Amino acid sequence: MTKLSSSFAAPLRGNITVPGDKSISHRSLIMGTLAVGESTISGLLEGEDVLGTASALRALGADIYKDDNGTWHVHGVGIGGLKQPTEPLYMGNSGTGVRLMMGLVATHPISVSFTGDDSLTSRPMKRVTIPLEQFGATFEGNDKGTLPITVIGTDNPLPITYELPVASAQVKSAVMLAGLNTPGRTTVIEKIPTRDHSERIFNYFGVPVEQDGDQIHVTGHAELKAKTMAVPADPSSASFLIVAALICEGSDISIKNVGINPARTGLYTTLMEMGGDITLENERQECGEDVADIRVKYSKLKGIKVPHERAPSMIDEYPILCAAAACASGETIMRGIEELRVKESDRISVMVEGLKSSGVNITEHKDGMTVSNSTIKGGAIIKTELDHRIAMSFLILGLRSEKPITVDDGSVIETSFPGFVDLLNSIGAKLCPIS
Ligand code: S3P
Repeated sequence: MTKLSSSFAAPLRGNITVPGDKSISHRSLIMGTLAVGESTISGLLEGEDVLGTASALRALGADIYKDDNGTWHVHGVGIGGLKQPTEPLYMGNSGTGVRLMMGLVATHPISVSFTGDDSLTSRPMKRVTIPLEQFGATFEGNDKGTLPITVIGTDNPLPITYELPVASAQVKSAVMLAGLNTPGRTTVIEKIPTRDHSERIFNYFGVPVEQDGDQIHVTGHAELKAKTMAVPADPSSASFLIVAALICEGSDISIKNVGINPARTGLYTTLMEMGGDITLENERQECGEDVADIRVKYSKLKGIKVPHERAPSMIDEYPILCAAAACASGETIMRGIEELRVKESDRISVMVEGLKSSGVNITEHKDGMTVSNSTIKGGAIIKTELDHRIAMSFLILGLRSEKPITVDDGSVIETSFPGFVDLLNSIGAKLCPIS
């Protein structure tokens, strides 16, 4: 394990880019695999999660490689064309990777075993196996519904109508992907909207998705067109830089080409309500997604009560919001977010423990946390629990703490944000490995 430490920083300044969007990168590779012909992808996130999905898709028959210019090429097999892999598929740390892939294979007549690291093998998978069973797939695994699981795909899938019991884009997308190789119309009912990257990319690749109120309809056996994809920078990764600039006095940074899909930008709205000086410039559309450049300046923040209905649009951003909240005047109340307990780690209890040990005033609730203005003492070693967003959030908090903050395992950042340390140091931060 590589320990990483961050210490109090001077102003952060510069024009930067952050890596490609994780959600869109997984989906681009999957859609390219289902299209016949060659799709190309620029801006793909080359983090471990997405590279794991690329390997899994190769094992299912796709030809995927990166050329010398950094563009990725996917030679697809067409819907229904996945082949039987010879080995279990190791999905690392990636909940999105495994849940989307389970949906994909469930309606192909192949058996595929999935496994992952200690974090992924403790996360709930019944939320996908329950709807996928209704298509006719069966599953072998343990009673707890955790990985390893073997999906025995059906050769005679039936279309389903499924109402999501949890607000989860991963579950919605698993059902939509299963619907692609199913004759007839598959419907997902989503009472609480979640990120709509699957809907957008299905349309972009030529699969019409009908949205009718809270119902999303996909008709199976459409022909996917091979496409040229440009993946925008990840708004969740940009959040770490945005909060860093907001809390380090004198900062002024611009982040280029960031995805601003409204289903993802709940943190930006929250930070603006807290008094954050964040401006979206050059707003545009690319490959069916909304994109902008983002300018952020140091700001005096004030705590707010985050509306719980905003949670799906900022579900990955609560750990970094805690860092902003510790530097804001008053209290920041985050409730209605029990889903955080089944992310890469139990993000409520891991944040509470780490923040307390760094001197931050935080109260744990069953469904969230309340953080109040704190003198951030630092000096602690934080347990990252195989969670990239925990590691990055504490390293950003360390930029404002009296003594350095150390995370016990910096390598987990590779999951979603390769180059995180160098990027921050290039704009004035002080992050370094500790032996
Ligand atoms: C994702 C959906 C979210 C999010 C994850 C990526 C996706 O998970 O936390 O990082 O790409 O669909 P849930 O669907 O479980 O909320």
